[in-house]
Amino acid sequence: MKLEEYEQHKPQIATYPDLAGRRVLITGGSAGIGRATAHAFSANGAVVTIVGRRLERLQKVVEALPGKAFAIAADLTKKEDLERIVKEAVEHMGGLDALVNNGANGECTEEFTRASCYERHFQLHVTSAVTLIGAALPYLKKKRGSVVNVSSILSVMPSIDDPSYSVAKAAQDKMTENWALKFARDGVRINAIRPGCVMTEVYETWAEREGRSLEDLMDEWGAAHAMGRVSTPEEQAAVILFLSSASASYITGASIRVDGGSELGFWYNKLELDRNANSSSNQAIRNEK
Ligand SMILES: NC(=O)c1ccc[n+]([C@@H]2O[C@H](COP(=O)([O-])OP(=O)(O)OC[C@H]3O[C@@H](n4cnc5c(N)ncnc54)[C@H](OP(=O)(O)O)[C@@H]3O)[C@@H](O)[C@H]2O)c1
Repeated sequence: MKLEEYEQHKPQIATYPDLAGRRVLITGGSAGIGRATAHAFSANGAVVTIVGRRLERLQKVVEALPGKAFAIAADLTKKEDLERIVKEAVEHMGGLDALVNNGANGECTEEFTRASCYERHFQLHVTSAVTLIGAALPYLKKKRGSVVNVSSILSVMPSIDDPSYSVAKAAQDKMTENWALKFARDGVRINAIRPGCVMTEVYETWAEREGRSLEDLMDEWGAAHAMGRVSTPEEQAAVILFLSSASASYITGASIRVDGGSELGFWYNKLELDRNANSSSNQAIRNEK
């Protein structure tokens, strides 16, 4: 599938009138899913604060957003940074009504049994989310606020490349359920999305590393999804937006698959393998004759 064809898979941003004026904090907001989410909230009249390590990249996104927006340069793996994020976001926006723990992508490049890989992924996907939710709760309780954690299909499927990521995302999903239960009667909803493969910078880097085109890499990953393609960041943002809105007022503790049916994809892969195996064994038989 040509990269341009993904343009048609950027859904129109839905309108949720209750989101106008809501104050939203989004981690990893300068690229990929986080950036698309910032755009979706801002287009709905929400005030947005985005977090990332590089201020320049954040500022570019802030300038491109249609509404009021702020940037906080912080590293989610650093305790001292984590502790100031909510405080600064509240200072910028005058309060906080919604939090999106989008975290950050990135595989662990070390040997995957190394404890440091687990520490890094737990820091990025669990400790950061727990710390930010904890600090945000007093504000969220006042406004019947909500949290969306960006998980992954690898929270329920094992990863052959980086098990530490998969283990951390599974823990993040469990945290979503536990915290949703704990704070449901305070009016705070806590949910998650489980993306399949999303075309973001991580795959550009990957393609470069392997000396392949991004299109080729995305085709390969797309084949593992029942729908036969990867997703756009905007398709993920659309569900985050819905979960943060009053239209999702009766949903909490859910982890919604936004994966083009990749958890069903096993059968597609199997059929594909069978087809290839049949054609090569047929070829071998023909050659023998
Ligand atoms: N892409 C996928 O296929 C996919 C699939 C399933 C789940 N997810 C999940 O979706 C989330 C977003 O992924 P993505 O692909 O959209 O990411 P991305 O395009 O790589 O963007 C990552 C964002 O996080 C920021 N960031 C990276 N490391 C950080 C750190 N240590 N502290 C603070 N900010 C940091 C980056 O800015 P700076 O570099 O300037 O800090 C950037 O804004 C992640 O939780 C990922 O696990 C992604």
